Amino acid sequence: MVRHAFTAAVAAAAVVGSAFAQKCTRQSKCPKDTPCCGLYGDCGVGAFCLGGCDPTMSTTFDSCVPNPICKSNTYQFTDLNDIQSIDKYLGDNSKINWQAQGNPVKYPSGGVALTMAEGTVGTLLASTFYVWYGKICATMSTSRGQGVVTAFIMMSDVKDEIDFEFIGNDINNAQSNWYSQGVTNYENMEKLKVSPDTVGDTHEYCIDWSEDELSWSVDGNKGRTVKRTDSWNATAGRFDFPQTPSRVMLSLWPAGLPSNGEGTIEWAGGEIDWNSKYMTNGMYAALVTKVTVDCYDPPSGIKSTGSKSYKYTSNMPTNNTVEITNDFVVLGSLMDTGDEPGSTASASKSSSAAKSTKSVNMVPGGNPGGGARQETAVAAQNTAQATSGSSSTGSSGSSGSGDSGSSGSSSGSSTGGGFVQGDGNSGSSGTGSGAAALEPGLAKIGGSAIAIVFAVFGLLVL
Ligand SMILES: *[C@@H]1O[C@H](CO)[C@@H](O)[C@H](O)[C@H]1NC(C)=O
Ligand SMILES: *[C@@H]1O[C@H](CO)[C@@H](O)[C@H](O)[C@H]1NC(C)=O
Repeated sequence: MVRHAFTAAVAAAAVVGSAFAQKCTRQSKCPKDTPCCGLYGDCGVGAFCLGGCDPTMSTTFDSCVPNPICKSNTYQFTDLNDIQSIDKYLGDNSKINWQAQGNPVKYPSGGVALTMAEGTVGTLLASTFYVWYGKICATMSTSRGQGVVTAFIMMSDVKDEIDFEFIGNDINNAQSNWYSQGVTNYENMEKLKVSPDTVGDTHEYCIDWSEDELSWSVDGNKGRTVKRTDSWNATAGRFDFPQTPSRVMLSLWPAGLPSNGEGTIEWAGGEIDWNSKYMTNGMYAALVTKVTVDCYDPPSGIKSTGSKSYKYTSNMPTNNTVEITNDFVVLGSLMDTGDEPGSTASASKSSSAAKSTKSVNMVPGGNPGGGARQETAVAAQNTAQATSGSSSTGSSGSSGSGDSGSSGSSSGSSTGGGFVQGDGNSGSSGTGSGAAALEPGLAKIGGSAIAIVFAVFGLLVL
């Protein structure tokens, strides 16, 4: 059971489609024309500069848009109104709290289903705000079946990570885990019992994360606590403890794809069965009904010049190299970057062809799932006009999460049944006309008119 941390996992072993994406590391930062190092370790503009953009691997620290600060709230997942597809979101988190890749679907009986059909990499919801210490809880039920992984994680742009992961063939346990700056540590995982199981009903999973302590609990029972002081890494000269602003992520992802590393497949319980009795209408699904966020005060003594965003100030990203600023950046289009948030909109007036003929990586795709083992990514390559870029990608394009999700659910609500995710008996009968609602949103490879490219990254296994 050997798996790799996120950053290693996305070192591409295989790329399907045109290999346009330049990779980024701390030693090899992104070039000026695609300055932002996105979640999966490749360079781009637009959404690459928003959530997940690693400033230590981007052209400058300002290439990445500052991280919007934590918002204490109860997020009720009753519809898709607070969820926007990643190819539409430009960074105004005063309007939208969640961005999506894949196909989130409103469930008639309440909740948002994260769906996964064959040929897709599932669904990811990520908060548009960041949490820098706080208590974060998700009420959810998981998907079932070998190779299928449901996840509720916290992930920072420099790959600090706190996980709840649910393996689809081990429905009596939740796996708790954490990573520090993407460094793999195989010792960290510990299982927490869930009674009776993670699938039949929703349970409340909480991550309580402060400067000194991290704990995981299920339905109010604290199952595990980790102390910062136990995590000193003498080699690195820092605590290997999550300490940087992190997004809340909820996902369903195909860890058991044959293209993934052996260790990952084994960890996930085997290869995915795409004709599984646990699928409904051709899809696996997990359900999220509520997320609560209680933000803690930022670390005392932190340099604070405002209260709109978190920004990194050093290539050694730790708790004391993050500052709280007044900066807040919204991009003008998906061709923009944090350095030049409105550049293409104005530039396009005078020279509309300037960037439009270029192939630029605008929308990082795929699904980090339990981010540490992300090895499947989708990248969107857009060759459309600069100014209409975002809307054209949005409607026909990559994920279809916003569109197909919401329209499907409103038209497919007649049966209104409960959350049925294939109980092993009914197979496809569960949601009736919900079939429309469960239309897969991710195109298959080569399936899009505007050159959506699915880049499948193989996993490097030790
Ligand atoms: C300590 O940090 C270094 C550098 O990041 C890393 O390579 C090493 O694996 C860490 N040690 C442990 C025990 O995690
Ligand atoms: C950062 O964490 C260290 C312990 O790792 C602590 O001593 C220090 O006070 C923290 N700095 C800030 C600004 O919170």
